[in-house]
Amino acid sequence: MINYTEKIPNNVDLGRDRVLQRALEHWQPAYMGWWYDVGPNESHNYEVYLRTAISVEPDGWAQFGYVKMPEYRWGIFLQPRDEKREVNFGTHKGQAAWQEVPGEYRSTLRRVIVTQGDTEPASVEQQRMLGASCPSMYDLRNIFQVNVEEGRHLWAMVYLLHRYFGRDGREEAESLLARRSGDADNPRILGAFNEATPDWLAFYMFTFFTDRDGKFQLCALAESGFDPLARTCRFMLTEEAHHMFIGETGVSRIIQRTCEVMKENKVEDPSDVRALGVIDLPTIQRYLNFHYSVTLDLYGSDVSSNAANYYTNGLKGRFEETKINDDHVLSEALYPVSEVIGGKIVQKQVPALTALNERLRDDYIREIESGISRWQRVIDKAGIPFRLTLPHKGFHRAIGNFAGHFVSLDGEVLSEEAWKKQEYKWLPSLQDHAFVQSLMSGRVVEPGKFANWIAPPARGINNQPLNFEYVRFN
Ligand SMILES: [Fe+2]
Ligand SMILES: [Fe+2]
Repeated sequence: MINYTEKIPNNVDLGRDRVLQRALEHWQPAYMGWWYDVGPNESHNYEVYLRTAISVEPDGWAQFGYVKMPEYRWGIFLQPRDEKREVNFGTHKGQAAWQEVPGEYRSTLRRVIVTQGDTEPASVEQQRMLGASCPSMYDLRNIFQVNVEEGRHLWAMVYLLHRYFGRDGREEAESLLARRSGDADNPRILGAFNEATPDWLAFYMFTFFTDRDGKFQLCALAESGFDPLARTCRFMLTEEAHHMFIGETGVSRIIQRTCEVMKENKVEDPSDVRALGVIDLPTIQRYLNFHYSVTLDLYGSDVSSNAANYYTNGLKGRFEETKINDDHVLSEALYPVSEVIGGKIVQKQVPALTALNERLRDDYIREIESGISRWQRVIDKAGIPFRLTLPHKGFHRAIGNFAGHFVSLDGEVLSEEAWKKQEYKWLPSLQDHAFVQSLMSGRVVEPGKFANWIAPPARGINNQPLNFEYVRFN
């Protein structure tokens, strides 16, 4: 169970390590400063119907209640230790899982943890203004739930830094509060986390696409031979599932509402659809293209010696490593990656060990495809002849083998000029953003009411009715 009587709730017996406890209690006010500074705007007095973990068991999310967000009990929760756990891949395969950081992997592991940790506060910063344009109280509560949990994910990584990386770790923990999403001088580490999340369609797309990258990265780290990292990530994954649910159902509800309005009014032309105050399907497709392509970049280069080293050294595994039926060393295996040669995209086989980023990206794409087909079903059910499609993997990429090439939605390699001509057929333009934002000029917060551009969800949170007061504004 989680100990909530301490200043920092935890299930790691924090009280027994006074030095560590003091260091974290020193970081805590800096964290609160960050939250007040760039956490959800103007929200500090709201009472929000939030879930708080009361145990780390999968069904431990029993507790729901009103919480002022600055009083949310951020803490340190790891999945319980399995004494028999081993390193399950790489050259250390079969050794007991490490309870301390192996000296030779110290700086690599620190980098991995910092990179993951940096994404967590970044997304809170990206989303901080969205409360002012929420489509309902239900959605407002959901974004706040995501925000407090991303804050907790930062705590999760900071605990590891403080506990296992000494002075360097403490400095990194401070830097995690100093970088800012989109800042010219001190930006967040990864590209997608410096993009703006300017509206709710972007927010849902972000939680569907980019939080899911988070899931796959956490899954790979949950296989780590460094046991505290694995156990931390396992618990974070239970929180992540809800974020992706919010994204998937959010987009789905927007599509549903658009289809309803199209049917009722017998309109199909995007400008007629827009005139009725809902988001036309081609605009939704363009947002999808954007968020998908920038998220694909987060997996890194298709061929990567870093990824190979992480694996060989037992630091970062594959998605569902222990369920894969092979040698878990990858000394012989090959894996296909794409490359642009002479204006054509060709596949070639490379050592699987070097293609682990690409493999994780492919695992991710498979899950994305099934989500898109669930969105498609909403359109099909309405009898509207529109197909949502996933762009080609090479479309709009800035990292890896496709970087510097101009690949169309269907995988044709174009000249820069030809690509630019079609850019705003494929990606949201300033006008698209302006239109979407024009629908979201104020917030809808009367209990049970929803903005015109989105359908209500199928059910409320924790079996509460849709007209439940999910947020009290005071
Ligand atoms: Fe997270
Ligand atoms: Fe998340």
